Amino acid sequence: MNSFSFQNPTKIVFGSGTVSQLGKLAKPYGKSILLVYGSGSIKKTGLYDEVMNQLNAIEAKVVELSGIEPNPRLTSVNRGIELCRSEKVDLVLAVGGGSVLDAAKAIAAGALYDGDVWDFFIHKAVIRDALPLGTILTLSATGSEMNGNAVISNWETKQKRAFGSMHAYPRFSILDPTLTFTVPRDQTVNGVVDIMSHVFEQYFTLTPNAPLQERLCESILLTVIENAESALEKPNDYDARANLMLCGTMALNGGLISVGTDNDWASHGIEHEISAIYDIPHGAGLSIVFPNWMKYVYRERIDRFTQYAERVWGIERGSKSDEELALAGIEATCAFFDRIGAPAALAYYNIGREHLDTMAKEAVLFGPIGSFKQLREADVREILEMAL
Ligand code: NZQ
Ligand code: ZN
Repeated sequence: MNSFSFQNPTKIVFGSGTVSQLGKLAKPYGKSILLVYGSGSIKKTGLYDEVMNQLNAIEAKVVELSGIEPNPRLTSVNRGIELCRSEKVDLVLAVGGGSVLDAAKAIAAGALYDGDVWDFFIHKAVIRDALPLGTILTLSATGSEMNGNAVISNWETKQKRAFGSMHAYPRFSILDPTLTFTVPRDQTVNGVVDIMSHVFEQYFTLTPNAPLQERLCESILLTVIENAESALEKPNDYDARANLMLCGTMALNGGLISVGTDNDWASHGIEHEISAIYDIPHGAGLSIVFPNWMKYVYRERIDRFTQYAERVWGIERGSKSDEELALAGIEATCAFFDRIGAPAALAYYNIGREHLDTMAKEAVLFGPIGSFKQLREADVREILEMAL
């Protein structure tokens, strides 16, 4: 195990009815609140009214920024930054899925920066401060509710880039599983794949002697697998939704489950290049990329893949060779993705070879990606080719 430091400052308030605590949580930060949300799901579900009631009760001055896109755009972030400055905003409050939360983080950081907020995403500047951020999560997937990451798309340059900063962690996040009852089937599936992928990025590591971290990862994978189909069959199944929500938060909250180990993140890098150009949902991109990444890299440390097959999918070794067992685990992953209706190939989105070269080049713009196996441009190109 490597040496490490770990800190996560986000307060989590979890459970049915917890939106009723919003006023109390928001009040200490000041009166002027920027309310950031998406294309209207929160109005349909009644959450918007509940939020406004809470904010009115503390006599907050609410400024609204709606219409945050899935795969949120830099243009929306810039609109939010202007509002923060003109309205002297004290607290940014994000109500939605990962896209809304990520946009709110970029707004909170950009509002206190004199330059172009995009600088943070292209390694031109480091975040030194940010406005306080609170969130109410409505979709289990990204872990954005308890981490300092934001992923934003610059539609002009066709780039989708991330930053990570201690200053961007939410001060508080309200996680009410009932708010996810209305998440449509395909977005629930995308969320499930995203959560599992966050675990994969940390589980497939070359770092030896980290049995607790391995078991933390395996326990999240098992819990997601056990609950995904119940949530899909019965969208109002509180326990299934609550378990998925907690898994999503624990899977990517500053690296709690993988402290002291090297993480990979190459598949996320590759997926971001696909959604940068084709604007496909992140989770769907991952269900296409990840199995192909697995097939490309499993020989680097085959015992990790045989352990995955045995412990996560319950596959018995029997007379199987390491190679056969490892491949059986990968096939079980594909079969599960297929069973829940996650796409398996780029062809699903009519994506052909047109931009494979660009995607491979952009993915390694700042150098090779991944640590389980370091990938260079040709490797990424090959994985994308396998994903066609
Ligand atoms: O816009 P609204 O109307 O809110 O509708 C959204 C959106 O259309 C809808 N939705 C959300 N909650 C709902 C709901 N519909 C009905 N009922 C509800 N309760 O779902 C659609 C997708 O929402 P989005 O926020 O885009 O999904 P997700 O949470 O999967 O976020 C994806 C974004 O997060 C980034 C991805 O790249 C992508 O841009 N990621 C962020 C990470 C992070 N901050 O740590 C890590 C991830 O790996 C990921 O890259
Ligand atoms: Zn992800």
